[in-house]
Amino acid sequence: MSNFQPVSGEIAVSVQHLGLTYTTTIDKRPTLKARLRTMGRGTKHTRVVRALDDVNLDVPYGSVLGIVGANGAGKSTMMRVMSGILPPSQGRVEVYGKVSTLLALGVGFNPSLSGRENVLLGGLAAGMTRKEIADHFEEIADFAELGDAIEAPMRTYSSGMFSRLGFSVAVTVRPDILIIDEALSTGDAHFKEKSLNKIKELRGDARALIMVSHGLGTIREVCNEVAWLHKGKLIQRGEPNAVVDAYEKFLHVGKSAAINEDI
Ligand SMILES: Nc1ncnc2c1ncn2[C@@H]1O[C@H](COP(=O)(O)OP(=O)(O)OP(=O)(O)O)[C@@H](O)[C@H]1O
Ligand SMILES: [Mg+2]
Repeated sequence: MSNFQPVSGEIAVSVQHLGLTYTTTIDKRPTLKARLRTMGRGTKHTRVVRALDDVNLDVPYGSVLGIVGANGAGKSTMMRVMSGILPPSQGRVEVYGKVSTLLALGVGFNPSLSGRENVLLGGLAAGMTRKEIADHFEEIADFAELGDAIEAPMRTYSSGMFSRLGFSVAVTVRPDILIIDEALSTGDAHFKEKSLNKIKELRGDARALIMVSHGLGTIREVCNEVAWLHKGKLIQRGEPNAVVDAYEKFLHVGKSAAINEDI
C-alpha cells in the first residue's frame, strides 16, 4: 500500500545515542500535620526515570529483531520512540519506511466502538484508504476469528480477542516495519501459532520486524537477531541463542522454567 520497496540489508530503523527520561510529578497527599505546616498547600515530588540511556541500534530490512530484558528494562519505551509515539530526550531515531505498531493491549483502539469500526479507524490511522480497508475487511475479520463479536463494542472483548484484532489489523496493512510489543502474550495457543506463522511469512518478504517478548522460546524460533536491554542500556546484541542463553543465565531460570512455555 506504499510505493516504498524494502530492500533486504538496507537500514529500516537507525537508533543513535537514544536517551529517554520520564519525569513524573507526584502529588503527595499531605498528612493533617503537614497540611497545617504548609497551610494547605500540597507537596510535590518529582520522580525521574532514565528509561533509555545511549542506545545505538540499526535494524536492517529482512531481519527479525527480538528485544529481551527484565520488567522495566526500557523495551516498551524504545518501541514507543521507534514508532514516533514518544520523542527522544537525547539522540535520534531514523525510520525508513512505513511503521505499523502493535504495542501492548489497547493502544489505538477505542473500546466503545465495535471491532468493525475500530478496523476502519486502525486502517485509516495506518494510511489505508476506505476502499482498501473495505477490500481487506473480510481478511482482517477472518484472521481474528471473532465471529459475531466483530459487531460488538470492544469493551466487551476479552484481552485475547482484543489482541487478535490488533494483530490482524497490524499485519494486514502490510507495513514495511512491524513493531510488536508483547501483543502475542494474551493469545491462546491456536492464535499464537497462527500469528507466528504470519510473522514468518512477513519475514520472507524483506520487511523489518521488531518484537519484544518474554516468550524466549518464540524469540529463539523466529528472530535472526536479539538485543538485550538492561536498565535502559543495550548490553548485548547478536545471534539469538547466544544472547538468550546469556539473558537466561542472568535471570537464573535455566531452560526448564515457565518462561519457555510460550507456545
Ligand atoms: N509513562 C511513563 N511515565 C513514567 N515512567 C515510565 C512510563 N513508562 C515507563 N516508565 C518507566 O520507565 C522504565 C522502563 O519502562 P518500560 O515500560 O519501557 O519497560 P519494559 O522493558 O517494557 O518492561 P516490561 O517487561 O514490564 O514491559 C520503568 O522504570 C518504568 O517505570
Ligand atoms: Mg513493556
